[in-house]
Amino acid sequence: MRRLDASKIPRHVAIIPDGNGRWAESRGLPRNLGHKQGTEAVRVVVRAAHELGIERLTVYAFSTENWARPPEEVEAIMDLLDRYIVAETDYLVSNGIRVEVIGRMQMLDARIQERLVEIVRRTEGNDELRLTFALSYSGRSEIVDAVRAIAREVEAGNLEPEAIDEKCLQAHLYAPEVPDPDLLIRTGGEHRVSNFLLWQLAYTELWTSETLWPDFTKSDLVEALAAYQQRERRFGRTGAQAREPVS
Ligand code: IPE
Ligand code: IPE
Ligand code: MG
Repeated sequence: MRRLDASKIPRHVAIIPDGNGRWAESRGLPRNLGHKQGTEAVRVVVRAAHELGIERLTVYAFSTENWARPPEEVEAIMDLLDRYIVAETDYLVSNGIRVEVIGRMQMLDARIQERLVEIVRRTEGNDELRLTFALSYSGRSEIVDAVRAIAREVEAGNLEPEAIDEKCLQAHLYAPEVPDPDLLIRTGGEHRVSNFLLWQLAYTELWTSETLWPDFTKSDLVEALAAYQQRERRFGRTGAQAREPVS
């Protein structure tokens, strides 16, 4: 396994775990078995992220657009999510992992909503790794929801339109206090963001892999981190400026 620079571990890693369906189809199996194997990979990667000292992990578990998939597939994914939480609760609670969720939760089944509320509540005192699931999530919906909330404040006379700036919009996102991801990993060979964290990805480093999500392991995560450590993040400045020591 590659050696990593412990001082340059990205603080926030976001993942688009893609390729479950193709993993199953290439084996002549039903897509749902790909999703099942995909939850196994989530289990593995959460442990690996914790071991590697990543502070925050955000996993795109289900997009707003994924609701348009065949109902049996949607149901199977929701069922697997439910099972994942039940099976992982003890591990998450006792290993300092704090679970959070972002997205339009009201679109989820009441049973899943209750399960999520419970795991969020049971882990809220934890602070080793913050694990966020984006569920029924879309970056555009998140921005729309923020704009609606801001419009309500303006309408109520509590906010001047001139006071609306990037900080204000950020403050109305689903998880306003969460710093932007340093690294985005997408598996499954596609090079697109598929409506994930559109606001937050402004200066995130992107890393894609041909590996299908169910095959993703700790060593793939290490490879992504090693690639990240070779990058020079410039944030619009020149390379020389970016290399100046921060005073
Ligand atoms: C990602 O795998 C999981 C979800 C979208 C829930 P896919 O199901 O998109 O797998 P492919 O892209 O069809 O192979
Ligand atoms: C992105 O994967 C969403 C999740 C992994 C939850 P998709 O498979 O839905 O994305 P597209 O359709 O290939 O862009
Ligand atoms: Mg896909």
